Amino acid sequence: MKKINYSKQSISEQDIQSVVEVLKDDFLTQGPKVLNFEKKFANYVESKYAVSVSNGTAALHLSAIALGVNHKSKVITSPITFVASANCIHYCGGKIEFCDIDPETLCLDVQLVKNKLESSPKGTYQGIIPIDYAGYPVDLEAFRELANEHDLWIIEDSCHAPGGFFIDSKREEQKCGNGNFADVGIFSFHPVKHIACGEGGMITTNNEKIYNKLLKLRSHGINKNIDQKLKKEKGWYYEIETLGYNYRMADILCALGISQLDIAFENIKKRRLIASRYINAFKNTLIKVPFANNQKGHAYHLFVIKIHNRLELYNYLKENNIFCQVHYIPLHISNYYKEKYGQQSFPIAEDYYNKCLSLPMYPDLKVKEQEYVINKIISFYE
Ligand SMILES: Cc1ncc(COP(=O)(O)O)c(C=O)c1O
Repeated sequence: MKKINYSKQSISEQDIQSVVEVLKDDFLTQGPKVLNFEKKFANYVESKYAVSVSNGTAALHLSAIALGVNHKSKVITSPITFVASANCIHYCGGKIEFCDIDPETLCLDVQLVKNKLESSPKGTYQGIIPIDYAGYPVDLEAFRELANEHDLWIIEDSCHAPGGFFIDSKREEQKCGNGNFADVGIFSFHPVKHIACGEGGMITTNNEKIYNKLLKLRSHGINKNIDQKLKKEKGWYYEIETLGYNYRMADILCALGISQLDIAFENIKKRRLIASRYINAFKNTLIKVPFANNQKGHAYHLFVIKIHNRLELYNYLKENNIFCQVHYIPLHISNYYKEKYGQQSFPIAEDYYNKCLSLPMYPDLKVKEQEYVINKIISFYE
């Protein structure tokens, strides 16, 4: 069997052609593909606005600035996430407070966040960053209720879940990043993600003020929509209104994103089929499939199992050309976070980390390949 990775992008002939067309056209960056991609993405996740940026980390950074994070800010997030979800607060001089995860959803535990907020003086915290972890859509309705009570903003880190959804208390489907509950949603277009652009990111929101701020922040704080009279007098004029960055996404990459969106829905269906095969195969075995993996709206960026003898299984699979991954080393035990905040303990996150393994999960994974993976795992425990 040839090498099977835990994730892999799917690139079609249409994707290649769409990039080639841009290369032959006038704009490699700051051209029409940018807005087209943003509109199509907003439509896909059902948000009002979308702002493309250079990657998911830039999306987090700009969101934090737009929401007013500064050296006085304290923000709550999960220790089980990619480091960028927490770093974005440090970029703005603020502090992170970790809160443990729910053992079944693997997301920030809303009850523990509630306890933390209720045991702290009002105003201690400014925001929450819940993550749609592995593609499981976090219960944002519950987080919104908490955020309203405590006057907090929410950044939904939805890098793992474009196309995912949860069912709210009115039995309505709520797409991840649709902006109905969070102030902003953020996404990544790294090749291991659902929409692969090489590098790229998106911020979604339903708030026009935040949208306009983000547009400026992404491109050096420049505003080209200046007074019409001034524009007539000096055609070249633009105003620099704030400290901004160059976090733009190029047209070449946006064209790839537009094309990838055409098959995003089909690809999520393939991911769900792959997940159902794993779930069936591991029934009545020692391999534990967290509850989250059984949910209808799961976007299955990752398919995580919890097992004993993880290291031995990981190495055994590697010897058999199956390259699984561990997501993630809890942030609070990393050197940088330990030095910053001292020794901390989040027992559920640590227990999860000791047992978790992300299995191959990508739309082009063939049935034969998946059967090979499943058989190897089952035979390891026999
Ligand atoms: C949960 C999460 N947040 C943020 C990011 C950052 O995205 P990017 O790699 O595009 O900067 C990632 C990407 O790995 C991620 O998985």
